[in-house]
This record gives sequence, structure tokens and C-alpha cells, in this order.
Amino acid sequence: VQRLRLGHSLGQTTLLAGDGALAAAAAELQTWLHGRRVFTLSSSKVRALHGHRLDALTAPAATRVDLDAPDGESAKRVSEAERLWAAMAAAGGKRDSRLITLGGGTIGDLGGFAAGTFLRGIEYAQIPTTLLAQVDAAIGGKTAIDLEAGKNLVGVFHHPTWVVADPAVLETLPLRQRRAGMMEVVKIALAADPALFAALEAAAERLAEGDLDAIAAVIAPAIQAKIRIVEKDPRESHARRALNLGHTLGHALEAADGYATLLHGEAVGWGLRFALRLSARREGSAGARQRALALLSPFPLPALPAVTAEDLWQYMKRDKKGRESGPVWVVPLEVGEAAMVDDFAPDILREELRQFIESESGPRGAASE
Ligand SMILES: NC(=O)c1ccc[n+]([C@@H]2O[C@H](COP(=O)([O-])OP(=O)(O)OC[C@H]3O[C@@H](n4cnc5c(N)ncnc54)[C@H](O)[C@@H]3O)[C@@H](O)[C@H]2O)c1
Ligand SMILES: [Zn+2]
Repeated sequence: VQRLRLGHSLGQTTLLAGDGALAAAAAELQTWLHGRRVFTLSSSKVRALHGHRLDALTAPAATRVDLDAPDGESAKRVSEAERLWAAMAAAGGKRDSRLITLGGGTIGDLGGFAAGTFLRGIEYAQIPTTLLAQVDAAIGGKTAIDLEAGKNLVGVFHHPTWVVADPAVLETLPLRQRRAGMMEVVKIALAADPALFAALEAAAERLAEGDLDAIAAVIAPAIQAKIRIVEKDPRESHARRALNLGHTLGHALEAADGYATLLHGEAVGWGLRFALRLSARREGSAGARQRALALLSPFPLPALPAVTAEDLWQYMKRDKKGRESGPVWVVPLEVGEAAMVDDFAPDILREELRQFIESESGPRGAASE
């Protein structure tokens, strides 16, 4: 088990990552939970699979109250946050009560938001159960819920006190979800960590098959890479924007598709491929492009949704991370190095999008499922 730390303005997060992290957490979280009221937040689906793992962990607490939210993105609603606030108040929640989330990024985002706002903030722990949440969503203190107007539009920065990333919970995670989560690992490696990138290259085939040992080996390094970036730029004003690699197109694809056919990580997988195209326009290294395409090639992606370049362009203009002048692109220059570009001419971008859609239509890889 690796013990990692993320320092932030209000203290620090301790992250336990690797095989046995949950068992280690039972000892480590003892004092934090001792004699307290603890709320656990999960979805009925994840609780049925992994809820028993909370028993030893929460034993030192005085009382435990289990709360469930709907599965998937529909957890991240104002009405769900309100339901949680009310339930925590009704159950006698105090400033020193604790919350533990057990689930994917949706449960983590809702739970982090509820913990950050209830009584102006109570401490919480995240036990991420998807690969995407273990390497990305649970780290960095961003929490959010959705509005009709768009995803993640309301939230607070509120770091968990603990993150417990144990690959054992990924045993039940479908292959498609494992691959999608791996796209965020490729993203961070390509944007910021050449050593992690080389490790991914060495294990690419096994990672693409969803091999849990191979996945487990890259979780702690991926977390460490994100910690380095978040510590440099806690409020996402500069360095942290590199984590948006693949997301400018990815978010537009998800929105244009009505969040119907692509998982988030799959949309990011397409976004990475598009960012590599743009890299050619900014003298990005051809060798880096080749390596990145080779690393991505064993990972199948579902077909691009049937959208036009114009559709995507309209969604990109609305992206909340864009500027008034248009979207900001994270463009790989080298393996482990990316540039922020906000001055692509709209005509060039539309043409690139058109060519991209034309050349990439059809599924990537026969194994897509
Ligand atoms: N806060 C951040 O910094 C941040 C970063 C990235 C993503 N996010 C958010 O994360 C969310 C996506 O997270 P996600 O991909 O984990 O989605 P998710 O939480 O919807 O989980 C995906 C599916 O996997 C199931 N699942 C979870 N754990 C499982 C397990 N161990 N075995 C079997 N099934 C399991 C869930 O029930 C769900 O159906 C989005 O809402 C996104 O906005 C937040
Ligand atoms: Zn993402």
C-alpha cells in the first residue's frame, strides 16, 4: 500500500493506494472515526457489491447512517444534495460528523459537495470504486452537481481528508469501464508524466485487456502525477488546465451525443486523438504523436456519435472552460509536455473537425462492445 499526501490550503489529504488499501484504512481511519457519527453514501448497486467493505472500517464510529443516491450521473442533482442535507440534519449530523463515499465519480462528486456545504463543511473520505474515480475524480478537491443548463455547474472546492484507492473493488468493474478510466491515465501521462507514459507503453496490451494486476500497478503513479499538478495549481488557473487534455472535444462529443452512447473516458479517448491532430499544427513532436497513437491503438472505442463539425463547434463555444474568444485547447508537444492554445482560427478548427469526423467514422477496433 502506498501512502501519498496532497497538501492544500486547509491541510492535507492522505491517499492510500494499492492492494490492501482498504485493510490499511481500517487501522488508519480509526482515530478519525472514533466515537463520531458517520454517514456513508453509495448507490444501491455499488453498496450491494462492496458495501460489506465498510463494516470493519466504520466499526470505531459511534453511529453509522447509510444513505444511497441513484446510480450514475442522476446522483448529481440539486434534489439529491437537498435530500442528503435533510437526511444528515434529521439524523443529528454535527460539525464533527464524518461522511464516507463509496462509489464512482458521481457518488464522489455528490458526496464531496454535500460534505463541503453541510454545516459549511464536514470532513469526508472517498472510497472510489471505478478506475476513473481512483485516478482522477477523487483527487484534487473539486466537487460538483449538475444543472439543466449543463454538467458540473455548481460545486465547491472541498478536499477529502482520506482517499482509499484499492484495486480489489475494481474486480467487479466491467471491462468497458476499465478501459474508459484508463484514458484518463493516458491523458495525464501524455500531458505531464513521461515515466508513467513509458510504464503504460510497456503494459499497453494487458491494460487494454483490463488486466487488474497491470491496472493496479499504474494507479498510485497516476495519482501521484495528479497530486503534483494539483499542488502546483489548486484552483485551476494555469498548470491544472493541462488535465483538460482531450476534454475540449470530449465534452462537446458527450453533449452533442446527449450523453447517450459514450462513456466519459471514451469521449476523452476520441478527444486525445483529436488533440494529437492539433499538435501537428503547433510543431508538436512527430515522435510523441506516434507513440501516443501506438499506446492508444489497442484500446477500442465505440464509433463517434453521428455529429457534424458544426454541432461540435457550437458546443465548444459554450464550454465553461473556454474564453470569450473560444475554446482553449491542450495540445501535446512532447510526451509529458503540453501547451495551452486559445488562438486557433475558427475556420482551421472547423476544417480539422470535419476531416477528423470523416477519417475516424466507424468504430475503432473490432473488440468495441
Ligand atoms: N471531481 C472531479 O475532479 C472529477 C473528475 C473527473 C470526473 N468527475 C465526475 O465523475 C463522474 C464519472 O465517474 P465514473 O466514471 O466513476 O462514473 P459513475 O460514478 O457513474 O460509475 C460508472 C458506473 O460504474 C458502476 N460502478 C461503480 N463502481 C463499480 C464497481 N466497483 N463494480 C461495478 N460497477 C461499478 C456505477 O454504479 C455506475 O453505473 C462524472 O460525473 C464526472 O463529472 C469528477
Ligand atoms: Zn475526464
